[in-house]
Amino acid sequence: MKRAIIAAFAAIIMGSGAYADTIKIGVVGPFSGPFALQGKNFKAGIDAYMAMHGTTIGDDTVEIIYRDLPAADPAQSKALAQELVVKEKAQYLAGFYFTPDAMAVTPILKQANVPLIVMNAATSAIVTKSPLVVRTSFTTWQTSTPIAKVAHDAGVAKVISIVSDYGPGIDAENAFKAGFEKEGGAVVEAIRMPLSTNDFSPIMQRIKDSGAQGVFAFLPSGPTTLGFVKAYNENGLKAAGIKFFAPGDLTQESDLPALGDAALGIQTTFHYAVSHDSPENKAFVEAASKAIGNPAELSFPSVGAFDGMNVIYKMIEATGGEQDAQKAVDAVKGLSWISPRGPVSIDPESRHITQNIYLREVTKADDGSYYNKEIQTFEKQGDPGLAAIK
Ligand code: PHB
Repeated sequence: MKRAIIAAFAAIIMGSGAYADTIKIGVVGPFSGPFALQGKNFKAGIDAYMAMHGTTIGDDTVEIIYRDLPAADPAQSKALAQELVVKEKAQYLAGFYFTPDAMAVTPILKQANVPLIVMNAATSAIVTKSPLVVRTSFTTWQTSTPIAKVAHDAGVAKVISIVSDYGPGIDAENAFKAGFEKEGGAVVEAIRMPLSTNDFSPIMQRIKDSGAQGVFAFLPSGPTTLGFVKAYNENGLKAAGIKFFAPGDLTQESDLPALGDAALGIQTTFHYAVSHDSPENKAFVEAASKAIGNPAELSFPSVGAFDGMNVIYKMIEATGGEQDAQKAVDAVKGLSWISPRGPVSIDPESRHITQNIYLREVTKADDGSYYNKEIQTFEKQGDPGLAAIK
């Protein structure tokens, strides 16, 4: 009898919330198909964070539920997100490699009472679609603005712009054009290719025919960027002295072994280089290398995911594990920390990450491997795209 009373009391206390919860984070990304390596980097960043910071916050245990979205597919993205919040009771949504997939999820956040932590998708407008979006990656406005100055400083006056015809490509084209014209340069032609383009020879011919001294390019990192840089080399553009300018998506570290000398000397601007020299990055690369298995596969989505986890952990702390999406998002507005990429903060107004953008050059190391060598820093860059779309 006595024991039964004690058990009843214990049940009441536990029922009042003083027991451990499992907080589920639903992560959507490309874990199979041509972009699987990018999804593998999401997972490596998440695993590295949890290895370094543990899997419990207070009394709560964090659980990650992965869902595979191999290509940009907004309808499937929304279906996966709905399944995660309704069936799995995920309290957070995170990941999202492609812009259309992140965009498709923003309308469900409020009713689901769930924040979305964008770990890659890079179109400026995503954060404006819901007050419950926080982004820890970059925007193509942020990464493509500084390269325009670099192109001008290299003595180039006429550039042809080539981008994938969707959100981040259009943003990249606009960012480069605005920056380059401000410097007095001219974009002589702007080509938008379908996202599915994988034969780049006709484009390379148009670059040659344009009379431009340089090419600006953006494509989403993956097999397409590898193909594009190879085509630039194989079609003789590099040999002809046509200079190549791009955000760092075009020379992600995991592509460099396959590109070899074709990429050597290419300058890009980006928020993260695996070679970044800091104690925080050293610790990150060690943990993320262990998580991914082959360190040569490490690339930028890993750091977007790692920092995304930092934001989610702060949200869980601030809400004591309760499901309150607005309170969670408010708690990280203005949050600053030292990321593996350098100092960063969450802009309280836009909820997008403010960060350094680095000019890097593909360089051959003494051991024969290739890396993005940081050679200049553009400090504390916000997102110029947000002003541009107002
Ligand atoms: C995007 O779809 O927003 C995206 C994907 C890959 C990138 C950059 C942007 O490298």
